[in-house]
Amino acid sequence: MDLYNRIYEKLEKAGQLHLLSTYDGLGDEAKASLLQQLDAVDFDLMGKLYEKASAASTTEVTPAFNEIEPLPYLDTTKMTDAEKVALSRVGLASIGKGELAVLTMAGGQGTRLGHDGPKGTYSIQLPGDESLFEIQCKGIDAVAKRAGYQPHWYIMTSTINHGDTVAFFEAKNYFGYPKEKIHFFPQTMIPAVTEDGKLQLASESELLRSPNGNGGMFISLANCGLLDVMKAHGAKYLFVCGIDNCLVKMADPMFLGALLTDEKQPQATAKSYIKRDPGEKAGIFCRRDGRPGVLEYTEIPTLYAEMKNDNGEWTYGDTNVLNYIFTLDAVERLAALGTEYHIAVKKLTYLDPETKQEITVPKGYKFELFLFDTFLYLDDLQVVRIERTEEFAPVKNPTGIDSAESAREMYLEFERTNPRKWEEQI
Ligand code: UD1
Repeated sequence: MDLYNRIYEKLEKAGQLHLLSTYDGLGDEAKASLLQQLDAVDFDLMGKLYEKASAASTTEVTPAFNEIEPLPYLDTTKMTDAEKVALSRVGLASIGKGELAVLTMAGGQGTRLGHDGPKGTYSIQLPGDESLFEIQCKGIDAVAKRAGYQPHWYIMTSTINHGDTVAFFEAKNYFGYPKEKIHFFPQTMIPAVTEDGKLQLASESELLRSPNGNGGMFISLANCGLLDVMKAHGAKYLFVCGIDNCLVKMADPMFLGALLTDEKQPQATAKSYIKRDPGEKAGIFCRRDGRPGVLEYTEIPTLYAEMKNDNGEWTYGDTNVLNYIFTLDAVERLAALGTEYHIAVKKLTYLDPETKQEITVPKGYKFELFLFDTFLYLDDLQVVRIERTEEFAPVKNPTGIDSAESAREMYLEFERTNPRKWEEQI
């Protein structure tokens, strides 16, 4: 049976034949591309995800655990400069030997920010007009100069922003960083579904899909062969961060030193800061049913979000910076595991199969893997508490809270006060 007939049967069985409504009018290349996209869809998985999405209550948070406890943490905010310098020296020695690879997750769509283009190309209007990518590159280069080695930098894109991301780096001459040390890879995409359980077309020859969440990082990295490249370069540890924190301490030697000197030899470390208020849109660290993990802001029952201990501090106050270091062994193991998709109710724009016009509906379903769900499979996770004002200035919204404006203010304040003067002693 040829590919078209095989796909026709598959779609008919899944009740999705409308996905071929534009097929006859397409040129040969577009036909082949559409068939290839449809061939890659796991309709059984999509059916199960839709069932889960349509059954979920949008008003009530169902706890995804039986028992939670706070996780212990290493409090760097209480350390002396000498202690921080000592940890940093350990990390820097490892970076100098080429043992740390750096990875930025930049596959998200940045819908909240409303920026037309890859989020990393966004400028928060600093005096030098640096983009978020450039800020991160400068950060890596500053550590590289101290370590005497320039780490390889891996950038996760999506099929939606891959071309624009690579073109941006080309146009900016890779910000002066060695081009052969910057590696781009697109993450896996997953179809979105309308409220009636139908997959849709984004254009005449393109299935409506979105990046499969930052948890898609491990598998995407392994599938494209870059995990093997990392190993071949001698990396033993992987520093991971998002693109939208303009104060992120790239390739942080102290962070790596904290992992390397932990007697429990955890397979990963994660940075935390103390949450601003119980409603902050960020995940909190905890032990869930005995395993280390994060509960996302959409999933924390209010009781736990608001709970305080005897000292009047938040019981679950350690908040996810979205900055981790994994051993490469752990990355390899986690890439072979599957975690559950989370459901995001989002506005969807697609091609109406009847009218062939683009329409936007207020409610549809997108599906995302969360990177921190993999923590449940680790024997242990180290949590490293840092000072929010020194390392966390997220750029999520166009204005107001966690916006370009607030991030710029924090960035300039950081430069003005230089709270990390101790680093000169490393
Ligand atoms: C994320 C964390 C949250 C944390 C907060 C801190 C998750 C699921 N949530 O929330 O716990 O407190 O950051 O700022 O990790 N990305 C991809 N591909 C995707 C989706 C996202 O590369 O498919 C990247 C984005 O480009 C961004 C980062 O992941 O760099 C976080 O994206 P987002 O999904 O917006 O997470 P938040 O809701 O901000």
